[in-house]
Amino acid sequence: MNENGSNADQIKYWNSQAGAQWVKGRESMDKTLSAFGQLAIDALALSANSRVLDVGCGCGDTSFSLAEKVINGSVEGVDISEPMLAHAEELRLGLGIENVRFDNADAAVKSFTPQTFDRVFSRFGVMFFDDPVAAFSNIRHSLAPGGKLSFVCWRPAPENEWTMVPTKAALQYVSLPEQVNPNSPGPFAFGDKEYTSSILESAGFSDVVMEAKNLPMCFAISKNKSLGQQFAETGPVGRIIASAAEDVRQSVIDSMTVALEAYVADDQVKMDGAVWLVTASN
Ligand SMILES: C[S@@+](CC[C@H](N)C(=O)[O-])C[C@H]1O[C@@H](n2cnc3c(N)ncnc32)[C@H](O)[C@@H]1O
Repeated sequence: MNENGSNADQIKYWNSQAGAQWVKGRESMDKTLSAFGQLAIDALALSANSRVLDVGCGCGDTSFSLAEKVINGSVEGVDISEPMLAHAEELRLGLGIENVRFDNADAAVKSFTPQTFDRVFSRFGVMFFDDPVAAFSNIRHSLAPGGKLSFVCWRPAPENEWTMVPTKAALQYVSLPEQVNPNSPGPFAFGDKEYTSSILESAGFSDVVMEAKNLPMCFAISKNKSLGQQFAETGPVGRIIASAAEDVRQSVIDSMTVALEAYVADDQVKMDGAVWLVTASN
């Protein structure tokens, strides 16, 4: 899957607990993220015949939405997470969708057939490359001349309530891991506009446009756990408290529950999600 050893940390991460958690929370995660993916789908101006690559397709929700638009075309979902892809394939068979195929491969180094896609899409699946210029360059070679790229990625963490509210609550009891390069692979790696557009330009894309968009994020409330517990399982704080002592973990979870309760409305936690909608051409 990975000839040069790059992205090894991410491959490990998405095949461990993280992949299993995404599968478990898939339905509610898809509801929470659906509108963000739709922004990037709408930006692609798909035709019924388009051949689309979905990078970091995860459990396949966006691949299925794309497939509905390209009824005479095709969608290839590429991901490095075996559990998420296995779930995606199970869903595909259940839905009887025939113009989607999934491939367990690292999009950064996969030997795509050159010029095989008309469109490249991603919902939060392109911020994890060790060498993003090389990865986007590889992806671009799979695009036909004039083909389009569109994806959504998070703006910086301080602009995103869904991560800042629980993190601030946790920081009363634990400290953040040592400051790493904000552009390191991870959810917020593409927060910086100039940095991200320079990656795409260096990879050979043209007409790079990054539009700031804010949408509400609605999280279904679990009936059998506290809000703090729920967010510790799927959000960024989980990693911070993974190795903390039990009493510290419990204090963090209680503190998060109190902070998150302020955002409950209509039986959901509603917070702001701040993204870049990125488009570019080959
Ligand atoms: C935040 S999840 C988003 C999943 C999916 N796009 C969604 O919106 O539900 C990021 C996804 O990117 C995948 N990923 C990370 N690095 C990748 C790489 N180098 N090649 C392909 N997929 C990758 C992960 O396995 C994971 O499924």
